[in-house]
Order: sequence, then C-alpha cells, then structure tokens
Amino acid sequence: MSAAPTVLVFDSGVGSLSIGGEIHRRLPQLNLIYAMDSGGFPYGEWEEAALSAHICATITLLVEQTRPDLLVVACNSASTTVLPALRSQLTLPVVGVVPAIKPAASLSRSRVIGLLATPGTVRRQYTAQLINDFASDCCVISVGSSALAPAIERQFWEGTDHPELYQTLAAEFAGHPRAPDMDTLVLACTHFPLVAAQLREYFPGVSLVDSGEAIARRVESLLGSALPTVGQPGEQRVIVLGERRVSAHFLEKLSAQGISQRPTLVAAD
Ligand code: DGL
Repeated sequence: MSAAPTVLVFDSGVGSLSIGGEIHRRLPQLNLIYAMDSGGFPYGEWEEAALSAHICATITLLVEQTRPDLLVVACNSASTTVLPALRSQLTLPVVGVVPAIKPAASLSRSRVIGLLATPGTVRRQYTAQLINDFASDCCVISVGSSALAPAIERQFWEGTDHPELYQTLAAEFAGHPRAPDMDTLVLACTHFPLVAAQLREYFPGVSLVDSGEAIARRVESLLGSALPTVGQPGEQRVIVLGERRVSAHFLEKLSAQGISQRPTLVAAD
C-alpha cells in the first residue's frame, strides 16, 4: 500500500460503495477499504442495543486487522445509534453518516420534505432530534422501507431489478395529504443513492438529497495535511463479512466503480 492514508468505509452492505464512491471521486489518492457486513445485514431491522454491540465488536476487529487512519460509518441505521459507543472505544477519528435533514431543509422551498430510510432510521430518537433541530418548520413525510435495501443488495449481487418497488414507495408518499408539495427527498440509507436514477423517475420534480458529498468533504478536512497533494490513485479494496459467494455480476459492479481487486471474504464467527 502507498503512504497515502487509508479510510475504512463500513456498512452492512453495498451502501459503503455510495459513500466510498464520493470519497474516491473527491480524494482519489486515498486508500479505501469498503467493508460490507453481509452477515449482519439488514441493520435497519435490528434492535438498537444488539445492533450497537454487534457493530462495536465487528468494527473493533476490522480496525485491528486493517489499521485505517480514519473510519467512516457509512450507514444511517448504524450511525444514528452507535456513534457514541464506537467513539468511546476507538482512538481513530470516526465520521458517521446520518440523514441529510439539514441540507434538505435549506434546499426546500415548499417546506415539505420526504424522508426515505430503513425502518430503524425512521424510528430513531437521533432522527427525530435532527428534524427538531433543523426542520422544525417543515412537514417531514417519513417512509421506512424494509424492502428497498435488500432489493438493492440483490441487484448488486444477482443482477435482479425490482421496478414495482419504486412504484410502491412513491404510492406510500403520495398517500400523505401534503405529498403534492414535497419538493425534496432525503435518501437516508446509503444503499439508496445507488438507485437514484430509478428513484428520480418516480419522484419527478423532487430534489434527491444524500450525505455522500458532505462526508467526502468532512474526510478531506479531517485528514488535512496527511493528504498527499498529487500522485498515484490509492488502492481500493472490498472486505465482505459473512457467508457469501462472489458472483460475476458483483465483480462487474465493483469494476464499474473502479475496484478491480477481488473482494476478501471473511466468514462470520
Ligand atoms: N445502508 C444502511 C443505511 O444507511 C441500511 C441497510 C441495512 O438495513 O442494513 O441505513
């Protein structure tokens, strides 16, 4: 590995690719490790205390094994509950991805915002606090989907698509009386920006907002002078935790993101 800093981008699955992709676009000289906790997926359905304990143990081990300079918890379902515990256990800087309520509220003219997330993120006190702090003058229409993140996993691993799902989600939003005024939709699960093009078709005229770019800027500011100014592109590699068999389709998806190394598979304990 080159002398450039290494960033560990952790999610339950391919959501690490949306956030890591933004970091790579902004800071191509960084070494990136995309960690996918396939064995623990879906985080959006876990009970909070158990999820927190699982993530702390998993990340602690990964950090010991990979020795990154910075950790990005590229998962809203995780960050909205685990960040304080994780920060108390680790000595490296930890950046958490949380719902982009604040940027959405500054963008919205109609003051009607959609929030599309996992059921866990929609339920969290952390999310309610974000809405209270930054969007108290907005009507926030929240939809927690159990189906979309698993469908995106299948799309990446098996190549299957589920267009009917987007229609169902659009109908859920449309059922809210203020839906006709919704002008901004927060994609509060890191899987969802991976299907932004499909979602856009079902939410015409609505701005889709996610946290990717802001996270990349945060990583840049935290690494500061440790960032090499010029030089070789960094190494990008994937670690998959859990019982998985790498499919040709998955390798194609990684290669489309400029990741050519075969993923490392680590069986879950
Ligand atoms: N990518 C995760 C997030 O941002 C959700 C996927 C899951 O349920 O594990 O919330």
